[in-house]
Amino acid sequence: MKTVAIASLCALAFVSSVQADGDAAAGAKVFAQCSACHTVGAGAQNSVGPVLNGVVGRAAGSYPGYRYSSAMRKSGLTWDEATLLRYLKAPDQVLPGTKMAFPGISSDADLHNVIAYLKQQTQE
Ligand code: HEC
Repeated sequence: MKTVAIASLCALAFVSSVQADGDAAAGAKVFAQCSACHTVGAGAQNSVGPVLNGVVGRAAGSYPGYRYSSAMRKSGLTWDEATLLRYLKAPDQVLPGTKMAFPGISSDADLHNVIAYLKQQTQE
């Protein structure tokens, strides 16, 4: 009985640590799905989508020189982790009218990992 309780506590601890901070290296692989439209790192340029350097914590629709949809400009959202989680899971449900043509990521682990990766992209 005791062993079962301890084992499930460990499992819980593991799950919550994955959720609290994802694995950025694994997130880099998830970002392959984004890189058709988004760039990060030194010399990143707006393309189909805006540059995602520094996106965690940024006001939605605010990267210089990128033409956002009016839905994005008027959203009033800030890309904190909780908002990114919701948006990246179902972009057009969270922000109807967004021009990000991406169906969303269903795996919570992938979502946390790609956000951990984005948090590391702090270049201007
Ligand atoms: C098919 C192209 C495409 C793909 C793939 C794509 N995006 Fe986007 N993304 C866009 C476009 C276009 C916008 C601008 C949306 C608007 O203005 O409504 C955008 C906007 C965003 C924003 C808001 C940025 C800001 O400055 O407000 C975030 C965050 C974002 N994408 C993250 C991602 C992530 C992470 C992935 C991969 C999991 C991804 N996107 C995949 C095209 C794409």
